[in-house]
Amino acid sequence: MKILAIETSCDETAAAILEGPDPAETSNNRRLQSLSNVVVSQVDIFAAYGGVIPEIAARSHLEAILPVIHQALDEAKLQPSDLDAIAVTHAPGLLGSLLIGTLTARTLAILWQKPLFAVHHLKSHIYANWLPNGSESSLEKVPAFPLLALVISGGHTQIIYMPEHNHFEIIGTTRDDAIGECFDKVAKILGLPYPGGPSIAECAKKGDPQKYPLPHPKVDGLDFSFSGLKTAVLRSVQNACGLDITTPSYELKKHLSAQQKADFAASFQATACDILVEKLKLALAEHPETKSLIIAGGVSANQVLRQKIQSAFSAIPQSASITKIPTENLFIFFPALKYTGDNAAMVAAAAYFEITAGIQPTDPYKLNILPRTPIK
Ligand code: KG4
Ligand code: ZN
Repeated sequence: MKILAIETSCDETAAAILEGPDPAETSNNRRLQSLSNVVVSQVDIFAAYGGVIPEIAARSHLEAILPVIHQALDEAKLQPSDLDAIAVTHAPGLLGSLLIGTLTARTLAILWQKPLFAVHHLKSHIYANWLPNGSESSLEKVPAFPLLALVISGGHTQIIYMPEHNHFEIIGTTRDDAIGECFDKVAKILGLPYPGGPSIAECAKKGDPQKYPLPHPKVDGLDFSFSGLKTAVLRSVQNACGLDITTPSYELKKHLSAQQKADFAASFQATACDILVEKLKLALAEHPETKSLIIAGGVSANQVLRQKIQSAFSAIPQSASITKIPTENLFIFFPALKYTGDNAAMVAAAAYFEITAGIQPTDPYKLNILPRTPIK
């Protein structure tokens, strides 16, 4: 079964073709293969602004979408007639960006007479863990249910319980900023380039994670809060520079030395990752039946986070990307780096499991975008 998927929820224009075993044959135990995975990022455009500008993002999608789809077909050496289905991200995301992807997918589904599947973005991030993760020993191993998924991106920070495929129960969520957003805002304070996650991770390599102690937010249960951590970094930077709290954040970078920036980046990164690990421990204590722990979304690329999760939950690390707790039989999954950020292969993977579960396609004449709707 070959699925063409389209993703335009934020600032990446992406198309991919995935080949999955025929539903009749599948044991649902094999990783899926993408025949092509084309991503055109607008990050260079938005680096100049320090963040995404929705109107520009939508216009850039419009320019890129058809060449990206052509390239995905060419790289897979396929014609439209070879496709079995089309999938597209319809929720959540930037309104104008989602419109370009969904209108393109609806048009192609009508034109080529293919069934159309509308996929939630967080579901796609989770299903990136069914794509190859680059570790040979894990090629045939896929997450087992029930599982817990930690979805950490620029727009979301959630712990989702999945008793089985296509069933999502949000058991923890952020009450304010998403963790990726917090990385991006802290990077701005430190004068590091957009997007903040990778630049903080890079800068932190030369820093001391213990140099500037930062508080953990007091949020009960499995919910998160990251806006206080961002403010704590701001106050600590003002203090380290000998400036008062009225000094605007954009003024601070010129007062910081390279070593101070690295120490702040490392201290912030370590605290943010520790907060995630704490909540995962709580979630696992509440759900001891969990067989797999899945980490998903742009922030799952963070190597310090990967190490902290592995050392928190594993006695014997088995490979770079899968870890087992021998006592509890828990496996931990991280996506391959190319599938951590926004891409369309993960959209196709999510659609594949809808198709194999018998979920019906959507009407291409009626599909709406849902910019703010939670995963269901
Ligand atoms: O999933 P994603 O590509 O887009 C959304 O759905 O939001 O996530 C983007 C977020 C950005 O906030 C970016 O700074 C963050 O992921 N990110 C990282 C890293 N790479 C990307 N955060 C921490 N460490 C990284 N290595
Ligand atoms: Zn995303």
